[in-house]
Amino acid sequence: MKTSVLTRGRTLDHVAGVYDLLSPLMLFGQEERISLQCMEFMKDPGVLSVLDIGCGTGTLTVEIGRLLAERGGRVSGIDAAPKMIDIAVRKASKLANVYFDVVPAESLPFLEDSFDCAVSTFFFHHVDRELKVRALDEAFRVLRPGGTLVVIDVDTPTNVFGQLCAWAGYFLFQQEEIRENIEGKLRAAMRESRFGSFEIIRRYQGYISVFMLKKGNV
Ligand SMILES: C[S@@+](CC[C@H](N)C(=O)[O-])C[C@H]1O[C@@H](n2cnc3c(N)ncnc32)[C@H](O)[C@@H]1O
Repeated sequence: MKTSVLTRGRTLDHVAGVYDLLSPLMLFGQEERISLQCMEFMKDPGVLSVLDIGCGTGTLTVEIGRLLAERGGRVSGIDAAPKMIDIAVRKASKLANVYFDVVPAESLPFLEDSFDCAVSTFFFHHVDRELKVRALDEAFRVLRPGGTLVVIDVDTPTNVFGQLCAWAGYFLFQQEEIRENIEGKLRAAMRESRFGSFEIIRRYQGYISVFMLKKGNV
């Protein structure tokens, strides 16, 4: 097993073995639609290198890897939980263009301008406000100018169903970072980060947003 790394983020080693069973239940069956939404961004033939931040057991990473293999591209998935990454590595055993590493999102081991695109699904409600900004700044650093970061996560609810789901998640997991997202602190972190702004391109269930952040041509 890979060794763990230090982070204040809420890592998921303790549920790694059941994560793939529980995750679809928590998303009320929306998992496939959400993953398709991410894959839309990969259709651009100019996307050859992708980073999956807080990739968990690597389901989306592997899907991206399969698509990019057709055009000679590669994908890297990072997560701070070694047991999640162990499962991800097993899923990708037949794909030579998919790489995984145990790395904290707030301190990425990649050079500037390394990736055309980055994605992050349901990672940002696992880190506090300060780490959200640091992880976003790191994503900005490793993206090439003009590159896109797609973030899908819990956000400020827009309807009663969304309020119920988001607050139920907070009370169930007793996770302050979920409350932060509900209260708009993920949005605030995006504005505070080097990206400076974001666009919401889609909403699911009244509490999950798809954010698009661009690294301008600097
Ligand atoms: C809810 S899971 C999401 C996994 C995957 N992206 C998905 O959509 O299924 C959140 C992940 O963030 C990871 N995590 C928590 N803190 C982290 C950090 N500081 N750096 C990288 N990953 C972290 C956890 O270990 C966990 O695998």
